Amino acid sequence: MAVKKQIVMSGIRPTGFLHLGNYFGALRNYVRMQEEYECFFMVADLHSLTTHPDTKELKLNVHRVLSENIACGLDPDKVALYCQSHIHETAELYLYLNMLAYKGELEKTTTFKDKARLQPDNVNAGLLTYPVLQTADIILHRASLVPVGKDQEQHLEMARNFVNRFNHRYGEVFPEPRAFNYGSELVKVPSLDGAGKMSKSENQLATLYLSDDDEQIRKKVKKAKTDTGPSKPHSPKPDYIENIFLLMKLVSSEEIINKFENAYTNCTIRYGDMKEQLAEDMIQFISPIREKANAIRNDENYLKEIMEKGAEKARKSARATMKLVRQAMGLNY
Ligand code: TRP
Repeated sequence: MAVKKQIVMSGIRPTGFLHLGNYFGALRNYVRMQEEYECFFMVADLHSLTTHPDTKELKLNVHRVLSENIACGLDPDKVALYCQSHIHETAELYLYLNMLAYKGELEKTTTFKDKARLQPDNVNAGLLTYPVLQTADIILHRASLVPVGKDQEQHLEMARNFVNRFNHRYGEVFPEPRAFNYGSELVKVPSLDGAGKMSKSENQLATLYLSDDDEQIRKKVKKAKTDTGPSKPHSPKPDYIENIFLLMKLVSSEEIINKFENAYTNCTIRYGDMKEQLAEDMIQFISPIREKANAIRNDENYLKEIMEKGAEKARKSARATMKLVRQAMGLNY
């Protein structure tokens, strides 16, 4: 008998544009996981309502995220690629889990406190129970592996608490979900201004998006912070120079990287040339993804088809879980 594959589940909010950090931090790993695990990848449109109640652009954003994911190599035939709001079982499980989640622990969540501060006029109950909905997303498929970044650690810890409470009260239904990534260290994708990482919402001029056109890429890379270069051979690199090398390592050939490393070591480096090279290599990397994503986004019928196919796979798994849940909870009369 075939060994059952472990189940992977993750969600992407349809807010903001995907950037190079999302690619190297998440998407690239998803593409690898689809070969080894049973994967559920979801566009978290319901979660976005907690902070973005205006839905005028939602459809466009959902389409864009889906297109970009497929353009990066996610294969809708290999994974369940779907939209959160298409799976109604999520709402039911969310409701049950809400009875197991305490107001006190929800109020202590870092993301809740941050968002409440950012939108003091809209501290809605959905914002408070955001981690409960996220738990429902995950355990609806009885997934145990959740590829997410560090910022989601606390949500996963809460998910484990809700799972343990459910299992303890009603019987073992769910495995404990945990954060999962290849390698111990996530790849760092620094921003172009020498401060922090590339980001969906902050420092947009220092972030390379998968939708940037060639000219935008050239302009942004050109603006990256540099200086007049090292004055002594074998000088240590300042952070912002190290960052340019890190970005180069993501997209350039070894030969090119070595060339600039040597030029740095013997103080002949010209940052103008280095940035020009980096811009061209970034364009080589980003433009095929951008073109593919644009083509997919313009094909609404295809998008509808893959969303429906993904939803069918997700519903099948959701129905099986909800049957167990209702049975365990004694809701089977
Ligand atoms: N909260 C996640 C984020 O902000 C998105 C998300 C929603 C998610 N549901 C999920 C992530 C389920 C992993 C699993 O990025």
